[in-house]
Amino acid sequence: MALRTIDTLDVAGKRTFIRADFNVPLENGRITDATRIEAALPTIKWAVAHGARVILASHLGRPKGKRDPKYSLQPVGDALAELLHLKLILAPDCVGPEIERMSKSLDRREILLLENLRFHPEEEANDPAFARQLAALADVYVNDAFGAAHRAHASTEGMAHVVPVTAAGFLMQKEVDALAKIVDAPERPVVAILGGAKVSDKIKVIEHLLDKVDTVLIGGAMAYTFLLAAGRKIGDSLVERDRLDVARDVLVRGKSKLRLPMDHIVTSDISGATPAEAAGIDIPDGRKGVDIGSQTVAAYRDVIANARTIFWNGPMGIFEVEPFSRGTMAIANALADSSATTVVGGGDSIAALARSGRSDDITHISTGGGAALEFLEGRPLPGLTVLER
Ligand code: 3PG
Repeated sequence: MALRTIDTLDVAGKRTFIRADFNVPLENGRITDATRIEAALPTIKWAVAHGARVILASHLGRPKGKRDPKYSLQPVGDALAELLHLKLILAPDCVGPEIERMSKSLDRREILLLENLRFHPEEEANDPAFARQLAALADVYVNDAFGAAHRAHASTEGMAHVVPVTAAGFLMQKEVDALAKIVDAPERPVVAILGGAKVSDKIKVIEHLLDKVDTVLIGGAMAYTFLLAAGRKIGDSLVERDRLDVARDVLVRGKSKLRLPMDHIVTSDISGATPAEAAGIDIPDGRKGVDIGSQTVAAYRDVIANARTIFWNGPMGIFEVEPFSRGTMAIANALADSSATTVVGGGDSIAALARSGRSDDITHISTGGGAALEFLEGRPLPGLTVLER
């Protein structure tokens, strides 16, 4: 998908509104992972180098339309100032006459960071008047927030109809290119590895990918819903009973492509305090499945080693608890060892990769969890569609 990118624009002297996704994890006001901020730098730096007057905007968390200091973009502003070596001004709000004034008096060596867009309920409601207020701050609109491209909000969609000049940022283009590679004429075999707790979160992407990829490897708690649907015993494992029918349908449709765990790590206590046990394909009563077993790891590793294109989203078990992390870590390492094109999305898989110390061995780590999945479901992303106009 060829988007018009920022480097095709003349931004010199123009108020260039860059919608980024600075929705970073915070602990006691400190950023615990700055990946999304770092990923936005190429676009910001290009704009600065080409004489733009840069205005940055983002949401942070889900403050439910109310001003809440806990969700202030101040820590993001501090991180940006340090990374860019520029004067960063945090605006007291994101719209209104004072902010408009600030946008107009911006010096070229200064960057204006608007306060959290979601302090206003109109942002998520994609309110047209609010979108116009945001648009009043911009001569040029650039969307680099791939992580929020599946949201039709005022800053990701609405305002792009109002600002006369629009473009994608470099991160947006990079993400779209990497994900499109998985579904559009990829090098085969193509393997999708999908884990995580819920079938309901992944069912659409599994259905869509079954038509596109050669093998889908399933792990995580959602495997137990599939296994129960296949008539296996799952003990006390997590299950979505209301998804059994849909899981059964997918098993029939995906018979030749879908692979389920053939053994498990189980426990009676998910805190990890009691020793984990190995179990075969059937899980005994009183035990919960918490990771894929060693035979499954070996089988999945083989599939990964033979693949030429691989997408991974979602852990294979409760990897946060050390005794249950082996399956997920084995997948992380298998991807890193592979010479295939590897794309990883979703916070948990990215955290597992970081823990393995092998993140640099992955072709592309997506900054978008939900957005990447919706893209691979084949759904149009509003933040992209509006840029294609
Ligand atoms: C994300 O973290 O996936 C994006 O920033 C979107 O956030 P949201 O799910 O709160 O809309």
